[in-house]
Amino acid sequence: MARGAFIVLEGLDGSGISTQATFLETHLRKEGYKTLLTKEPTTGLIGGMIRAALKEDWSTSFKSLQLLFCADRARHLEDEIEPALYKGRVVVCDRYMFSTLAYGFAAGVDAHWLFNVNREFRMPDLTIFIDISPDISLTRIESGREKREIFEKRESLNKVRRAYLNLAKRFKFKIVNGENGVDETSNEVRQIVDKFLSRR
Ligand SMILES: Nc1ncnc2c1ncn2[C@@H]1O[C@H](COP(=O)(O)OP(=O)(O)OP(=O)(O)O)[C@@H](O)[C@H]1O
Ligand SMILES: [Mg+2]
Repeated sequence: MARGAFIVLEGLDGSGISTQATFLETHLRKEGYKTLLTKEPTTGLIGGMIRAALKEDWSTSFKSLQLLFCADRARHLEDEIEPALYKGRVVVCDRYMFSTLAYGFAAGVDAHWLFNVNREFRMPDLTIFIDISPDISLTRIESGREKREIFEKRESLNKVRRAYLNLAKRFKFKIVNGENGVDETSNEVRQIVDKFLSRR
């Protein structure tokens, strides 16, 4: 019987998460897997509130913002991720709880509190961290958008990257270099995922 797998991609803004998630899902579908490509914040109501807060259309505290991410995640798991895994799909998720942990921690929210709020959520089967420097992140953000979001400043991105690298050790992420071209990065991602899926 087909077994689902929960694969998460994480990284700094502009690291290529969305690009790589899309490529990966296409690759897996071509290989014959049933898939679900999904992302956080989600396209649901709470996800919309989060995206509006990130653009500073309204403001809330960092702690409250992280709780919104968690509320969005609870619903995302219940309504989309868990049912897809149950049906044997390979779920490719563009950002997940590690974004809350890295960005929340970088914004000064207590790490223990963040871990506790997220502890009931399902752990991914495989997490890939696409690593780029804060400088590359800012260059890519600036060429793609009119306005920076609240975390997109050099010092914040530095803190976020360091938080991710700590999480990578603790939760055994696979790390790929996101500073090479899109194709080279996607080959690396694909190799990691193919190896992981073939070993199950
Ligand atoms: N390896 C790469 N080399 C050069 N440019 C890249 C690479 N990966 C992505 N880009 C470019 O960087 C920009 C951001 O890519 P993408 O939207 O996939 O990143 P993201 O990590 O999902 O960002 P966000 O956090 O804003 O959602 C896009 O213009 C994309 O074409
Ligand atoms: Mg993206």
